[in-house]
Amino acid sequence: MRSVEPTEKSFSTVGSLDVVGLGFLGIGQITPESLSCIRQADKLFYLGSDALGREWLRGQNASLESLYDAYSAGKNRLESYEEMIQRMLAPVRAGERACVAFYGHPGVFVFPSHEAIARARREGHSATMYPAISAEDCLFADLEIDPTDFGCASYEATDFLVRPRRVDTSAALILWQAGGIGVTTYENGLEWNPEGVRLLTERLMQLYGDAHEVVVYEAAVIPVCDPVIIRVCVEQLPSVRVSVYSTLYVPPLIVRDPIRQDDLLRLGQGNFT
Ligand SMILES: C[S@@+](CC[C@H](N)C(=O)[O-])C[C@H]1O[C@@H](n2cnc3c(N)ncnc32)[C@H](O)[C@@H]1O
Repeated sequence: MRSVEPTEKSFSTVGSLDVVGLGFLGIGQITPESLSCIRQADKLFYLGSDALGREWLRGQNASLESLYDAYSAGKNRLESYEEMIQRMLAPVRAGERACVAFYGHPGVFVFPSHEAIARARREGHSATMYPAISAEDCLFADLEIDPTDFGCASYEATDFLVRPRRVDTSAALILWQAGGIGVTTYENGLEWNPEGVRLLTERLMQLYGDAHEVVVYEAAVIPVCDPVIIRVCVEQLPSVRVSVYSTLYVPPLIVRDPIRQDDLLRLGQGNFT
């Protein structure tokens, strides 16, 4: 049973909002429950740049409206998100069943989805997020990584760079939005801040050394394409293309803390690798 926040303000007309994700590979990773929400909606929204995906969605539900035009070059992204949220909530406030589809997972690194759900519930509407396949899930499959082997930490790249934190280099590290470090606006083109990549490189060299291999990863967005997997040593990172669609994977430095035997014995374990 999904939890519902207490109602702050009750509207006489109650609508609903379904928030779904399409995964990647065009619409090749969509789940049956998300597809059902898409088809049943009175009003469908889509936020993504994929024209084929958009037209496919229109075929599923003719009410489709793209939210992508809320972005424009130089416009603050928070302003764009606010506009998207208002557009998504308008049919909900009118008592309709709205659905919004994002690429990837709708709740992974997506501000307007969480915010629209919170506001819809505060106004007395029902709102539900459905799980989907994120870029990180594709990365685990394409790079054949098990995140539990060494542990795995995941950060937004700007956040990772500007907040001093204790980084556990014995665990894997995943950095989102490495191609847009420090950029708060939407920009044309795909490499928003090469200087940010250089700063990130310096930080990674301090932590991992110049020669440690990192992977610039892009999941395939259409079925006929392969994923982009660029392996370089940290030092060379600024020489390869890091786009706003890239996710950076930093494998662990394989120096692990010794296992605490006392804790193992308390767990009743004799053998642990
Ligand atoms: C706003 S987030 C959206 C994430 C998305 N909701 C998901 O579930 O993967 C944008 C970031 O997702 C990652 N991303 C988007 N498309 C990607 C792709 N095709 N391959 C790898 N990472 C991608 C990048 O780190 C990018 O900067």
